[in-house]
Amino acid sequence: MSKEAIPRLDDDTIRNKVLPYCRLSSGEIWEDPTGQHRIGVLDAISKDNCHKISNKNKVDLFIQDPPYNIAVGNKNTNQLSRVNIDEYIKFSDEWIRNSLEMMSENGHLYVWLGADQKRGFQPLPEFMILMRKYEELTSRSFISLRNQRGYGTQKNWMAVRQELLYYTKGDPYFKVAYTDIPKVLKGYYKTINGKITDNLERGKSDTIRPGNIWLDIQQVFYRMEENIPGAYAQKPLKSIERIIETSSKKGDLVADFFAHSGTTLIAAEKLGRRCITFDRDPVFTELTIRRLERYRETGKTGWQWENPFPEISN
Ligand SMILES: C[S@@+](CC[C@H](N)C(=O)[O-])C[C@H]1O[C@@H](n2cnc3c(N)ncnc32)[C@H](O)[C@@H]1O
Repeated sequence: MSKEAIPRLDDDTIRNKVLPYCRLSSGEIWEDPTGQHRIGVLDAISKDNCHKISNKNKVDLFIQDPPYNIAVGNKNTNQLSRVNIDEYIKFSDEWIRNSLEMMSENGHLYVWLGADQKRGFQPLPEFMILMRKYEELTSRSFISLRNQRGYGTQKNWMAVRQELLYYTKGDPYFKVAYTDIPKVLKGYYKTINGKITDNLERGKSDTIRPGNIWLDIQQVFYRMEENIPGAYAQKPLKSIERIIETSSKKGDLVADFFAHSGTTLIAAEKLGRRCITFDRDPVFTELTIRRLERYRETGKTGWQWENPFPEISN
């Protein structure tokens, strides 16, 4: 039995109960009273919607987490349905084109994506090939985040990977990140100023760098403060904070077209970056605004197992 206060928010019965409490409807934007962020109910494939939220400001860092074209947990709902791969690539092409129109001369684009092992690993390879057509972008890294728990353990390798693609435009700022994992491997001797040194002495930190396989990030579950009951695709705050700290400076503009539970927004708020974000679903936009308000009022990053929509509790 689920320990969470409400079931998935993309379930129609729950959505219909929550909708009357959503302060924005389609096409509307919430203006942050502090002037830092803008949050909308908008569609990533609409050029007009994207222009509306950016207000001609250029984006330094995109962190995009689109639907993966994979039905998660056997659910095939309005939000997580599977479409024909050509249709999915057309959809991807449109939101990428909109992102690039808003991107600054020196910018970063991160895209979370999935690979359906039951269907020839779609849409990851098709998406990677699509990205080659954007000549202004350079492919930089293919990062994997390792979940602790997975599924499919009896007759197959347990699926524990989340894919993250990294592209840049121009020559943007990049700050090397470190994990909390201590360096244990001594060796790689080199003579510096006549003295033999080992790699531990030469290193800039006592801990290892995450590289492109992130093993040190816990996936979100109901015991964590950042957990959002009802959100089915929440990314760990630590992963988004790592991206923001590495690929932007204080005051930079970060954008996320698929807000969902507002993880990018909360990470941007914590780290002093401005953020524009939206979701085409008013329920998730409301959740995103509430999460920011709650963070500002209490310092809490989520609801853990409490209901973010207490108005609808039975
Ligand atoms: C995979 S989730 C994003 C998860 C998010 N990174 C988080 O940590 O909470 C994808 C979200 O995209 C939204 N979405 C789907 N199609 C969209 C579109 N065309 N425009 C904007 N949002 C869309 C869905 O409602 C869903 O909330």
